[in-house]
Amino acid sequence: DLGYFTYDPGYSTSGSCQSDITYIDGDQGVLLYRGYPIEQLAEHASFLEVARLLIHGDLPNKNELEAFDQAITHHTMVNESLRIFFNGFHYNAHPMAMLTGVVGSLSAFYHDTIDITDPENRLLSAHRIIAKMPTIAGAAFKHMVGEPFVHPLNRLSYTGNLLNMLFARPSEDYEINPVAERALDQLLILHADHEQNASTSTVRLAGSTGTNPFAAISSGCAALWGPAHGGANEAVLRMLSEIGTVEAVPKYIEKAKDKNDPFRLMGFGHRVYKNYDPRATIIRKTCHEVLDELGVGNDPQLELAIRLEEIALADDYFVERKLYPNVDFYSGIIYRALGIPKEFFTVLFAIGRTPGWIAQWMEMLSDPEQRIGRPRQLYTGAARRDYVPLHRRG
Ligand code: SDX
Repeated sequence: DLGYFTYDPGYSTSGSCQSDITYIDGDQGVLLYRGYPIEQLAEHASFLEVARLLIHGDLPNKNELEAFDQAITHHTMVNESLRIFFNGFHYNAHPMAMLTGVVGSLSAFYHDTIDITDPENRLLSAHRIIAKMPTIAGAAFKHMVGEPFVHPLNRLSYTGNLLNMLFARPSEDYEINPVAERALDQLLILHADHEQNASTSTVRLAGSTGTNPFAAISSGCAALWGPAHGGANEAVLRMLSEIGTVEAVPKYIEKAKDKNDPFRLMGFGHRVYKNYDPRATIIRKTCHEVLDELGVGNDPQLELAIRLEEIALADDYFVERKLYPNVDFYSGIIYRALGIPKEFFTVLFAIGRTPGWIAQWMEMLSDPEQRIGRPRQLYTGAARRDYVPLHRRG
């Protein structure tokens, strides 16, 4: 029975594993990080607080959180020679191409942590990667828009630093909007981990070979990029632009139901959730207030998304298949309101998911029974047969 999952210490041949980090109940729409409900963390915690929770297993006390914040802040800079790396990208390179390439290249700079059997080296690598993702993202954004790179300012919060590296310019003062800072910090929390999704499984499988953490996280970026996974937030905005008006929604609902039509409702459906994705519930709830506070309250694409959801969830095709909005359906509406272009949405997903990838990578390597992952297959090819010389082939 191929549906039967077995756990084995390495990376089970069926692709499952055992983990203490994140719990999902897909039927009930429940998501817990180390036992804490996502709703409570999204409302009360900061992203770095959640990052430390995922890595260390418990909510930090004041001293522990300050120490973690300092450890991350200490590593926000990247080697200046990386600027040359960015100059090699074409001006219209997709930012996920830049992120995936540059994150993987970090292994060329950090030989001091090459021995990842040492837990201290794993933790130092974790701090470096979490700290440098926004700096690399900011550089990719500035390369995209043709503006000078902005270095991290360590007096700013993690998310404030990210906004500053995206939007500050030498020619004018840039003031961080606290509404934008809080909205983005909450979105990073909502994306921080999600059990064994495709990109996390990729990080685990790559990491199980003993490769360096920068390469493993780069493989996670590559997997996340796909439109069926983290690339869906960008695809949702493209879909809403294509649909254009509420009047056109029924036509696209029919396209999504047509098996002969490759069109899918982006931001709808999930491998695990057969109920409303709790992250989508939170984002949908905060959308209006964030957009109002940012002065773009009457965003027609938000209204279109809400009507699209209503019409889809009144249609038997979606109800019978338990297809609900997922985390990607509304997140792009807020990213856009923050002034972020849709090509960059998945980069923000990657920044949010990094602590989850890291925590899962560390959990796997700290398991003394851990072995290289080696999923197997069900062979359906030709039975054994002998070679036929060329002159005797038809
Ligand atoms: C993420 O795994 C994670 O945890 C991922 C993630 C995370 O945090 O890491 O949550 C992030 O990746 C969210 C998903 C983002 N992707 C999208 O929004 C892309 C659109 N969604 C679909 O491509 C799809 O729903 C998937 C990829 C998410 C899931 O694909 P499955 O496993 O094939 O979906 P399913 O088995 O539930 O499908 C059941 C039926 C099928 O039709 P039938 O064969 O039964 O007739 O529903 C259909 C599917 O064709 N279906 C859709 C649909 N999604 C599934 N039909 C129309 N539109 C859709 N979006």
